[in-house]
Amino acid sequence: MGTAAAPTPAETTPADSDLVRAARGLPVSRTPVWFMRQAGRSLPEYRALRAGTAMLQACQDPDLVTEITLQPVRRHGVDAAILFSDIVLPLVVAGVDIEIKPGVGPVVASPVRTVADVDALPPLEPDRLDFLATAVRRLVAELGPTPLIGFAGAPFTLATYLIEGGPSKEHARTKAFMYAEPAAWQRLLERLAVSAATFLRVQVDAGASVVQLFDSWAGVLAAPDYASCVLPYSRAVFDGLAAGRAGERAIPRIHFGVGTGELLPLIADAGADVVGVDWRVPLDEAARRVGPGYSLQGNLDPAVLLADRATVDREVTRVVEQGRAARGHVFNLGHGVLPETDPGVLTHVVELVHELSAR
Ligand code: CP3
Repeated sequence: MGTAAAPTPAETTPADSDLVRAARGLPVSRTPVWFMRQAGRSLPEYRALRAGTAMLQACQDPDLVTEITLQPVRRHGVDAAILFSDIVLPLVVAGVDIEIKPGVGPVVASPVRTVADVDALPPLEPDRLDFLATAVRRLVAELGPTPLIGFAGAPFTLATYLIEGGPSKEHARTKAFMYAEPAAWQRLLERLAVSAATFLRVQVDAGASVVQLFDSWAGVLAAPDYASCVLPYSRAVFDGLAAGRAGERAIPRIHFGVGTGELLPLIADAGADVVGVDWRVPLDEAARRVGPGYSLQGNLDPAVLLADRATVDREVTRVVEQGRAARGHVFNLGHGVLPETDPGVLTHVVELVHELSAR
């Protein structure tokens, strides 16, 4: 830990917030906490606002995006907002026919199965993202000292939806394509990296303070395959961000996937400041695996929030304590909030993490 004193919350700006400081491994006033999927079906005010609007329509409406993003910040007092959007949105905006089926996930009308399918994918034109820049600017103005996290889906996880045509457990078609069509795979992942970098760049230019790259399904791969067939393209997304304006301070990057225990050092090496950890590997062990140069985010099992209060408190305390082994810790779940979660429990967790970590 350095010697610079952490500022009190009242005097912070997003760039000096506990989230940004923890991401950089600087001292914090309290462990910052937010939840993946904090905006969403666990909140009755979200369900009311979304009624009658399709998910991917809502994501392109700056009024709805702003309001839905702010809901969990107001209700829970979390230390960050995450833009309400979806990882498939850059594809949708580019013109790929995708629908998000409630309770299922993204479904692609014409899955990518051949080299020709890869070449037919439309590029993402940045000028189609005005709605996104508008929403981010409004959010940054409304949020004041609270940082906004921008995000994108990583090339591999987006490729799984495009190739499988929808959600999948084994991702066998994706892996078969990766092994059998290396040239087409490279072209596909290069294109997805460009589109993710474009999507992130718009959010950063409009004022997002941190970015998270979601490679949710990377954990289905063996480490050598991840290293050769996936990591270079995720690194390209982060490199695309680094090529910002001269003198601009690099924005903190969080890199997250599920089931990535065997991949953690590689996930870090792709260009992360913060490595997202699911519930399978305790944070002290994850800190050992990534080494001292990285902060960690996670890793409460989302299902713990469905248990009794004593269990919730015990597990939250354990995660806060094990997180002290890392250079910096951003408290989060190991994956998204389950829709059936009682929002009162989420508010309680925020208070408890702050209480346990106040200094
Ligand atoms: O609060 C937040 O975390 C921000 C918003 C956010 C959403 N999707 C909103 C959403 C984020 C960061 C995502 C990313 C996303 N989308 C990922 C990566 C994170 C992860 O969960 O691993 C993935 C894999 C997707 C694809 C996707 N979109 C799935 C699997 C689903 C769930 C389908 C369902 O109904 O169970 C979606 C839809 C989706 N994205 C919802 C929300 C709030 C639910 C839609 C609804 O309310 O009807």
